[in-house]
Amino acid sequence: VRTILVIGIGAGEPEHLTVQAIAALNRTDVFFMVDKGEATADLVRVRRAICERYAPYEGYRFVEIEDPARDRGAAGYVEAVKDWHGRRADAYERAFLRELRDGECGAFLVWGDPSLYDSTLRVVEEVSLRRNVALQVDVCPGISSPQALAARHRIVLHDIGAPVLVTTGRRLRAEGLPPLVEQGGSVVVMLDGEGAFEDFAGRADLEIVWGAMLGLPSEILIRGSLKEVAGAVAEARCAVKQRSGWIMDVYLLRKLGQS
Ligand SMILES: C[S@@+](CC[C@H](N)C(=O)[O-])C[C@H]1O[C@@H](n2cnc3c(N)ncnc32)[C@H](O)[C@@H]1O
Repeated sequence: VRTILVIGIGAGEPEHLTVQAIAALNRTDVFFMVDKGEATADLVRVRRAICERYAPYEGYRFVEIEDPARDRGAAGYVEAVKDWHGRRADAYERAFLRELRDGECGAFLVWGDPSLYDSTLRVVEEVSLRRNVALQVDVCPGISSPQALAARHRIVLHDIGAPVLVTTGRRLRAEGLPPLVEQGGSVVVMLDGEGAFEDFAGRADLEIVWGAMLGLPSEILIRGSLKEVAGAVAEARCAVKQRSGWIMDVYLLRKLGQS
């Protein structure tokens, strides 16, 4: 049996690694790095730096798995992603059989927490179900970007006893503001390439609590009524993209005046 550790490493701040995650790094023989091209080269560098800092024994090796391209022209989004996961499972299975000996331990360092908008667990599960390679899968949770956002702004994500919905920029743009926001709930928006908050930029009654590149040297935080700060957030997003070539940002939307 080969062990696969799926280790949450936090969303950028190296000191957010848990003691459990550090112990897991130190029993790893092979770190699998999924190569997604130039855009994510910085994130590969952060992962390597984490290994150097927390697993200094160097008894491990790095193995890159090339990420298969996603079919952007496919009819349905969910079908396209499922097809892509299948091809990823092919690549992971080949890598496990070729690079990991029986009894050894392989690991994926997952950005933030593995339970939130990350496909690693689904793909590893698919490999396991195929039964061509016997796997024991263990998960170490990590600090997710919504948690990092809340900590940096020193806020609770929801009003007392109220719900919080985590969604994507794509959905926010397609479906509009979730009705729970009008009833005192909060919405956390991730994966927003387009800046969907701008659709509500005229709303003085909504608050945005925004953070980009949390935990990294280029971190930026902005908070205020959408009407007042939407322009500043849009400008900051452009500036980060120009400087770094890419951006990761996450934000909370809710009625203004909540604690
Ligand atoms: C593919 S998802 C991965 C989420 C990750 N598993 C987590 O727990 O946060 C990537 C999205 O997470 C958010 N994100 C991750 N790291 C971030 C950071 N350091 N600063 C701001 N947003 C971040 C952004 O919304 C980004 O588009």
